[in-house]
Amino acid sequence: MTDIPMALPLYATLLMGGLYAVAYRLGETRRLQHIPAIGQSGMILSYWSALQFQFNGPRLLDKGFRNLRPGVKFVRVPGFIRWSVVAVGPETVQEFTRAPDKLLSVPEAFEEFMQASYTLHQEEIGDKIQLPILKNTIPRAMEGLFPALYDETKIVIEDTFKDSESGNREWQSFVVVHEIMHAIARISNRIFVGLPLCRAPDYVKLNISFANEVVFLSYILVLVPRFIRPLLNRLISPIPQRIKQAQAFLQPLIDSRRGIGHEYEKWNDYLTWLMEVAEAHNKADRDVVLRMLSTNFASIHTTSVTVTQILFTLLSHPQYIDPLRAEIDQEVANKGWTKDALEEMRFLESSMKESQRLHVVGSILLHRMVMEDCTIAETFLPKGTMLAANLLHAHASPEAWGNDAGSFDPYRFLRLEEENGKRFGIVTTTPNILNFGHGRHACPGRFFAAQQMKLILAYLLVKFDMKIDTPGGRRPKDFWFGLACMPDPRSRILIRRRTGYT
Ligand code: HEM
Repeated sequence: MTDIPMALPLYATLLMGGLYAVAYRLGETRRLQHIPAIGQSGMILSYWSALQFQFNGPRLLDKGFRNLRPGVKFVRVPGFIRWSVVAVGPETVQEFTRAPDKLLSVPEAFEEFMQASYTLHQEEIGDKIQLPILKNTIPRAMEGLFPALYDETKIVIEDTFKDSESGNREWQSFVVVHEIMHAIARISNRIFVGLPLCRAPDYVKLNISFANEVVFLSYILVLVPRFIRPLLNRLISPIPQRIKQAQAFLQPLIDSRRGIGHEYEKWNDYLTWLMEVAEAHNKADRDVVLRMLSTNFASIHTTSVTVTQILFTLLSHPQYIDPLRAEIDQEVANKGWTKDALEEMRFLESSMKESQRLHVVGSILLHRMVMEDCTIAETFLPKGTMLAANLLHAHASPEAWGNDAGSFDPYRFLRLEEENGKRFGIVTTTPNILNFGHGRHACPGRFFAAQQMKLILAYLLVKFDMKIDTPGGRRPKDFWFGLACMPDPRSRILIRRRTGYT
């Protein structure tokens, strides 16, 4: 009995928090009443729809978007804490991605759904001064970086899928998401921090754990009212510990690169470029560490989920493996394992893009926060509304992709290039192909991601035979949680070296 008075402040806080959340949602439901809802529109029943979205999001979105009245420009999709207002159709996507940042804000949206101040220290690194390095410096330096990228890709793949101990070349089974994620973390970090740190198992593990923890922490913080977040974050957040660990790995490297007078030792890597940008903006070394962690967060999961999905797509359409291998063999014979050879692998690129069209990393992305009352696509959007785009709808639209929009056609983007006379590569975005976002805020890391993904897939395809390890080689079902999608983390592939391809 004596415990009850002691627990009272906690119960009171939770009760107040719950009341605050319901009151906020009620107010928002009223403000957005003019926008049609997917699922139930009423205050109470929409909580039921929000729950259904956690387990059955793609089906509900599909049904909702199919049944829309003509001319609807936005719909609202229920969440537990707030509604998302989702653009309908390419014109609306185009219009909102063109709106000025002071009206529709990416950082504010990121703050809200990723709890970015707590998870990624956005209040310290929200100026995003590192983005030009990802968007311009790395792609421009790629020619020079390529040998390192190839070296790491080859070594990590050979290490991971090495022939069995006895030296025979039997099929071996691997949990593919896990292996690809470790490989991507290592390969990315070859360009981020170089040798030997990119291979240090604890550093690789740190970056993978950090990304998982950011997502987990943001899920929890989003669910509790704003005023409880600082306290809860202090009690449960693993992030400060991760920052200390990252600093312990990176500080010696930063110091050594700074070693000679005030000149940096000239390294061609992201860390060096980050240090230069940080110095130009009078930032401390902690800032470099935070930006490195946040770049790893943005890159490792997205790239490894995408590579794994493409691998499953290709292996479940084995009729295209030989033509792909023929293309890769020919380009490598002509130009070696070089950036130029990769550029010429157009069929591989078209197949990858087609897989990305059909298998997205999330159903609703491109989040923007409305910063002041405004009208977009003839729809009034009150301040505080969370806007986004529906990738599933855009990527499956028969108007954009034809009547076979639902099927895998690896030649689709090659044909589009021929018809339009311009390149439609992996990094191209349009309001109908949104896997890297679109407009000013389209993913700045996509140029780097494209090189990595192409190289890994080309290497795997020519050096190894692979099969999906399921009865009949069937593609494992995608694993959806709410709006996020990934391949089933338990799924396995069978792999063995191709005869004559050591
Ligand atoms: C296949 C892999 C990847 C996918 C599918 C992906 C997808 C995305 C998407 C959908 C966005 C949001 C765009 C928008 O809101 O319009 C984004 C933003 C971003 N991505 Fe990627 N990404 C990938 C790889 C990477 C890599 C490798 C890096 C870094 C090296 C990176 C860094 C970023 C950053 C920093 C942003 C925020 C941009 C901003 O705030 O303006 N991404 N990405």
